[in-house]
Amino acid sequence: MKNLFYTKPVSQLHEDSTKSGLKRSLSRLNLVSIGIGGIIGAGIFVLSGQAAAEYAGPAILISFLISGFACAMAGLCYAEFASMIPLAGSAYTYAYATMGELVAWVIGWDLILEYLFAASTVAVGWASYVISFLKDIGIILPPEYTTAMGTKMIFVPQSGWQAYSEGLATTLAANNIDINTLQACIGVINVPAMFIVAVSTIILIIGIKESANFNNLMVALKLIVIVAFIGIGYFYINTDNWHPFIPENTGKTGQFGWSGILRGAGVIFFAYIGFDSVSAAAQESKNPQKDMPIGIMGSLGVSTLLYIAMALVLTGIVNYKELGVSDPVALAVDKMGTDMIWLRYIIKIAAIAGLSSVVLVMLLGQPRIFFSMAQDGLLPSFFKTIHPKFKTPYISTIITGVFAMVIAGLLPINLLGELVSIGTLLAFVIVCIGIIVLRKTKPDIERPFRTPFVPLVPILGAVACLFQMVFLPGDTWLRLIIWLAIGMLIYFFYSKNNAEKLRNLK
Ligand code: ALA
Repeated sequence: MKNLFYTKPVSQLHEDSTKSGLKRSLSRLNLVSIGIGGIIGAGIFVLSGQAAAEYAGPAILISFLISGFACAMAGLCYAEFASMIPLAGSAYTYAYATMGELVAWVIGWDLILEYLFAASTVAVGWASYVISFLKDIGIILPPEYTTAMGTKMIFVPQSGWQAYSEGLATTLAANNIDINTLQACIGVINVPAMFIVAVSTIILIIGIKESANFNNLMVALKLIVIVAFIGIGYFYINTDNWHPFIPENTGKTGQFGWSGILRGAGVIFFAYIGFDSVSAAAQESKNPQKDMPIGIMGSLGVSTLLYIAMALVLTGIVNYKELGVSDPVALAVDKMGTDMIWLRYIIKIAAIAGLSSVVLVMLLGQPRIFFSMAQDGLLPSFFKTIHPKFKTPYISTIITGVFAMVIAGLLPINLLGELVSIGTLLAFVIVCIGIIVLRKTKPDIERPFRTPFVPLVPILGAVACLFQMVFLPGDTWLRLIIWLAIGMLIYFFYSKNNAEKLRNLK
């Protein structure tokens, strides 16, 4: 029983860290860039349009603010932990130091939903943008090999191959097109999504510095284009599109009005996921005590400002009712007129770059959490093998990459996205509570960064995250519970005993 509540002494954490073999080479700028690399991606480039069209209207801006607020509170808590315990395992390690082995295991297992599944989800979004870009330049990839297994694809005149959905059927019917007369096929595997996971995995094996450099390049590209889009888009805003700012609720919970804004916030939360991946790279940071808080809060701040500006421009150029497409930013550029067609290509390239960096950063975080769990004996020891030359946790990087490839290749995106959000929200709740617990149980540890207004900020963070979890659908909760139950079985049959054996050896 006492194993379940065993907390790892902070001194032991630091001792493990010095023996880890990981290379400290990340600068402050690299950390901010890893944060932005992990944050700005499918959330803004793919999901924002649907959230405005179906749930919040122009008030998606408020959804961004609500979600951003919850993340800022959780981010402040992450910053305290990351500066105090600057090790590779992120929230897993913090839970081990504060709430005991069982909670640490739960959070480590739960983080797989955030990192590994997010990498796969975003890889599928990456594939959609690549397919669409190639189509723009006249290259059509075979539809069976660009979509998840079993997905029905329909060839729609003018717009090309699209996944079947009831919405698509309704739109076609409204345009007097009989769906049964259109060419159709069934998806086999999403090869482009697997491709980006494979490329990212290879870069991550080669080195942390090389990965950071690649990420810097992708982040610079996406930031330049996003700022250009905001700057140019500003002149095309038609303020009529912002009226009504909060469209009236349709009578159904979550469809516009305030309940729609909250549901929108739940969807948009996905757009903020990734700032915490900065903390997973703590053990490779040159000066983690100072730079972790800057990396976390800096990347979150920059992304939030850009999101708010993007939301204003998007809903100002395109009426929210038309925004329900999978490439809302490209649609806004189309609305600017034919002389802006060049920007359309550039936006797609930026989205492809942006989504690549998210896949990379998520695949960077996951193996480092596995690495820390293996150091504690909760996972088999091969997960902590460091490559002798590259100094990266290469075995866990390969295992993560293979799983992410299989998931991205076979599963549909909508099944994954909400699972990623609920898993991440749970991790944030535990981190927020952890801050309050550690201030009480270990008040004397040096805290280079202190979360302000404790316990108010952690409580607000935990409540805001729990609140967003409540708004997620019942099946997502069920999947979370099943996932955690599988984790419990592994813990009680393997991890608990293995961790104890390892401790006795030390
Ligand atoms: N925040 C990341 C994205 O939007 C996961 O792609």
